[in-house]
Amino acid sequence: MSHLLQPPTSVKLRLCPSSSPPSSTVEFATLLEQAGASWVTLHARHVSARRRRQGAADLDVVHALKKTLRVPVVSNGNVRMWEDMQKNKEETEADGIMVGETLLGNPCLFANVIPDPVRISLEYLEICKELPDVATYRTIEAHVKHFIEFQCSRRPWYNKFRAALSACEGVDDVEHLLRTKVTRWRGRAARDDHEACPDDLEYTTA
Ligand SMILES: Cc1cc2nc3c(=O)[nH]c(=O)nc-3n(C[C@H](O)[C@H](O)[C@H](O)COP(=O)(O)O)c2cc1C
Repeated sequence: MSHLLQPPTSVKLRLCPSSSPPSSTVEFATLLEQAGASWVTLHARHVSARRRRQGAADLDVVHALKKTLRVPVVSNGNVRMWEDMQKNKEETEADGIMVGETLLGNPCLFANVIPDPVRISLEYLEICKELPDVATYRTIEAHVKHFIEFQCSRRPWYNKFRAALSACEGVDDVEHLLRTKVTRWRGRAARDDHEACPDDLEYTTA
């Protein structure tokens, strides 16, 4: 692919099976570099039959990769908040950090902000309305659930919210739910402006 395609070709891999020598991930990544990978991303977990993201990522292997490869290395795994990203960079010396699951709950992670979950949901719904064919309604519903769950899953009203969300039939229903019941349950409205607002928290002060 790297020889046939004009755009750079990158590779993302997991750790080689635990039955193989610890160095095998580095050896495999070296072969990928030699085959023309422009950069390598390591999700430093083994494939697990039980969970897609089972256990902590082994960032030592990312560090070993960084020490061996010439192409840029991106580290993936263990980032739950802004500070984790800084720690990950220090530990691995990687050229970049990739984040998966946490971004579902907080899409502002890379800006070092924990957004007001209702405000970010409303902002997301606005984008969905502007670009109506990009996401299915089920996807939109799942994203709003993640945004609210990330910060409010322990609130007494959270289960009521889930039930009300699954009863919604479209984007307008979800918007109405957020602006009315959710606003009432949590006792405050979200501001509509898209700039960081007082309801947003910086990770470092949270
Ligand atoms: C919703 C979602 C979709 C994903 N889709 C892909 C994908 O298409 N290809 C891929 O290599 N990894 C995919 N991943 C895995 C992530 O890129 C990442 O490797 C994994 O979630 C571990 O990082 P994390 O601990 O930050 O979540 C996905 C993860 C999530 C949460």
